[in-house]
Amino acid sequence: MDRLKGKVCVVTGGARGIGRGIAETFAREGALRVWALDMNDSEFAALEKAYPAIKGAVVNVTDGQAVQAFAEKAKAEHGRVDVLVNNAGITRDALIQKMGEDDWDAVINVNLKGVFLMTKHIAPLMMESGSGSIVSISSVVGLDGNIGQSNYAATKGGVVAMTKGWAKEFARKGAKVRANAVSPGYTRTPMIESVPDKVLDPIIAKTPLGRLAEIQDIANAVLFLSSEEAAFITGQVLRVDGGLVL
Ligand SMILES: NC(=O)c1ccc[n+]([C@@H]2O[C@H](COP(=O)([O-])OP(=O)(O)OC[C@H]3O[C@@H](n4cnc5c(N)ncnc54)[C@H](O)[C@@H]3O)[C@@H](O)[C@H]2O)c1
Repeated sequence: MDRLKGKVCVVTGGARGIGRGIAETFAREGALRVWALDMNDSEFAALEKAYPAIKGAVVNVTDGQAVQAFAEKAKAEHGRVDVLVNNAGITRDALIQKMGEDDWDAVINVNLKGVFLMTKHIAPLMMESGSGSIVSISSVVGLDGNIGQSNYAATKGGVVAMTKGWAKEFARKGAKVRANAVSPGYTRTPMIESVPDKVLDPIIAKTPLGRLAEIQDIANAVLFLSSEEAAFITGQVLRVDGGLVL
């Protein structure tokens, strides 16, 4: 299991949920270093102990200066970044008439501006070395919309649009920097702990494969797109939703 042997990887929101699963998967696949970026450092010690390749770093993805400083640190340590996973994301759901501007701004800031800032500061390192893979986590909601998620849907659709642009922008001048997105269906993580069964049960009933996604389902798709197995795949959105939307 060495599909990321020797690679330097960055995973935002890497302390818990899907991001943590991705960081752990990358470490098991032989990555040299997996930077787990998060605002919450309480899990870093346990992660670093279990997987010596993982290193936690407190970085708020909405803070341009902090992101730039992190990119400089990553470059100083290994001279390059091979894989960037834009995973950090939040929800602030409400029907549009009840959605405050603060709810709109908070979600746009983390899910859209955070992805922009991370890519703005890490992609140039990849362009310099001539290769790299950027995988951004969108959502079925970004492709199909959802009641009560105007802010979240806008960001997740925006991630898809940015990804397609980057696939073109980062393949110029002979560079082989790929950009793809993964679009998970509802996944068992702390983010959906507060979603009641009366909402989840009909989703499971509508899903051909008859269950919610597990974290590893998403991590496996991200691993594939991050690895050389996907060397000729760029600008794509891979749905991992059990066939929920067909
Ligand atoms: N869980 C789902 O059903 C589901 C479905 C589709 C897409 N997604 C997307 O997958 C990604 C991960 O979701 P999850 O369910 O694991 O969420 P989660 O809430 O369990 O974990 C998100 C992590 O991101 C971190 N984070 C939040 N804001 C941050 C910031 N400004 N800077 C740095 N880190 C920050 C949090 O501290 C947390 O550790 C998100 O982008 C989410 O939108 C989740």
